[in-house]
Amino acid sequence: MSKDFRDLKVVISGAASGIGLATADLFEKRGASVARLDFAPISSSLSFRVDVTDEIQVAEAVASADNALGGIDVMVNTAAVFLYGPLLETSVAEARKVLDVNLIGTFLMARETIRVMKSRGKGGKIILFSSELAQLGREHHAAYCASKAGVSAMVRCWAKEFGPDILVNAVAPGPTDTPMLDYENMPPDWKRLESSNPLGRIGQPKEIAEAVLFLAGPGSNFITGQVLGVNGGAAMV
Ligand SMILES: NC(=O)c1ccc[n+]([C@@H]2O[C@H](COP(=O)([O-])OP(=O)(O)OC[C@H]3O[C@@H](n4cnc5c(N)ncnc54)[C@H](O)[C@@H]3O)[C@@H](O)[C@H]2O)c1
Repeated sequence: MSKDFRDLKVVISGAASGIGLATADLFEKRGASVARLDFAPISSSLSFRVDVTDEIQVAEAVASADNALGGIDVMVNTAAVFLYGPLLETSVAEARKVLDVNLIGTFLMARETIRVMKSRGKGGKIILFSSELAQLGREHHAAYCASKAGVSAMVRCWAKEFGPDILVNAVAPGPTDTPMLDYENMPPDWKRLESSNPLGRIGQPKEIAEAVLFLAGPGSNFITGQVLGVNGGAAMV
């Protein structure tokens, strides 16, 4: 495997599981130096425990990652929670939790990373995580969809605010085989729904990671403010 990311310093949140884990592993395979952040413990030489909703913890974790790596070129924020929540059965606390992790967590990770990038007088790339559901909508998922639509909106705002030095994009996966989706344990009709796209299957975490590496690499240097759908064609712009 080529080591074409050898000089890249990458911070990834949500790196203990699923897409974040696959992305961290793929960056390392291609030669990047990676700091892994998560709420959950991670057995990696360079990892930091952080709750992305906590302003102080995020500032400390990003500063520690910056010190350890000697700078940050790319920040990937995958940390998120999912909520199946029919409106009439969803409490404010449940809705707030999703918005807090997915929206405020993204806000804090981006803000602290951009501060660090600017303090070093360098540019960089911010890669956030939306979802195909932000575009499609789905019954019983309003809080999650709202949080991910909010991420897509922030991408467009920050791309305008921080260009040309800092490029801001998002990946919007379709259903992907991770603990969040829990595909194995779905009833058959849900499985059918999740795999009903032109490619006839759900995605694998490494397939989403490849899109992140594209956005992190030199091939995307004229791309900012975009939300890249990686969803087997389930949602089309
Ligand atoms: N899996 C899918 O089908 C799918 C589809 C569309 C979008 N996405 C998005 O892709 C991203 C990755 O999802 P995944 O499927 O890998 O999920 P996952 O549940 O496997 O991993 C999410 C990670 O985020 C961490 N996390 C949660 N709350 C946190 C907090 N407060 N602070 C720090 N870390 C926290 C968890 O510990 C976990 O390691 C998410 O943004 C998700 O919304 C996933």
